[in-house]
This record gives sequence, structure tokens and C-alpha cells, in this order.
Amino acid sequence: MHGPAKIILLLLILLTATACSTSQNSDQAFTNTSIEQSVMAKWSRSCALCHVDGVAYAPLVGDTAEWQRRLAKGEQAVLRNVLEGVNSMPPLGYCMACEIDDFRAMIAFMAGDSR
Ligand code: HEC
Repeated sequence: MHGPAKIILLLLILLTATACSTSQNSDQAFTNTSIEQSVMAKWSRSCALCHVDGVAYAPLVGDTAEWQRRLAKGEQAVLRNVLEGVNSMPPLGYCMACEIDDFRAMIAFMAGDSR
């Protein structure tokens, strides 16, 4: 197979793989293992502003121990803090376009579940 055809085939495989990984499983709390690219894009535009550098003591992405402590109070309590804001955490984390399932996936991602 020649170069360009190979690349197109690769792209097709990639596209199919992404399409298959968009399964939603909102019944399980914070156990989403796959984070969609669209969700990842929203995360980079909003949450990353603070949760990458720990601005105003925001829990760091990947700081599993810190996230476990926070998640221990239960999904509902944590989600309420995201929706309404808490201390320096702004309501909705500046993501007006985010759905509740997006927040679940983002939290699972930051808590390190997706690694
Ligand atoms: C302006 C900075 C900022 C942005 C933007 C931001 N956060 Fe936060 N976040 C914080 C800070 C600061 C805290 C710690 C608040 C505290 O407990 O005092 C926090 C805490 C949290 C918590 C833990 C809440 C709890 O109950 O312990 C979650 C979950 C969270 N953020 C999710 C998100 C998500 C999802 C986004 C993007 C949609 C986001 N944050 C965007 C600053 C930010």
C-alpha cells in the first residue's frame, strides 16, 4: 500500500475507535474510564485554567490522594460544589456548555481514573 492510502486507512481506524469509545455510563459514579475528545476540549478551555497549576489551591489533575479525599463525601456533594461553586471554585467551573455527564467524566479524569 502507498503512503497516502495508508494514512487514510489509519484515520479511518482512529475515527472508528473514537466513535466506539463514546459509550455513556452515568449510572456508575466516577467510573467513566474513557473521556471523550469533546469533553477533553471543554476541560482544557475551563477547568485546566486552575486544576493544572493548582490556582487558589484547586486540587491538581492526577493528585489521586487529594481527589479521593474530596470524592469521599459522595458524588452528589462534589457535583453540587461544581454546579454552585465552592470557595475559589467558580460555579460550573467556567464551563457553561458542560453537561452533568461532562463534569462526571472530567472529575474521573482529574482523579486519575482514566490512567
Ligand atoms: C478559577 C479556577 C477554577 C476553575 C476554572 C475550575 N476550578 Fe474546580 N476548583 C477550584 C478551586 C480553587 C477548588 C478548591 C475549592 C475548595 O475546596 O476550597 C476547586 C475544586 C473543584 C472540585 C472539588 C469540589 C469538592 O467538593 O471538593 C471539583 C470536582 C472541581 N473543582 C471541578 C472542576 C471542573 C470540572 C472544572 C471545569 C468545568 C473546574 N473545576 C474549573 C478552582 C477552579
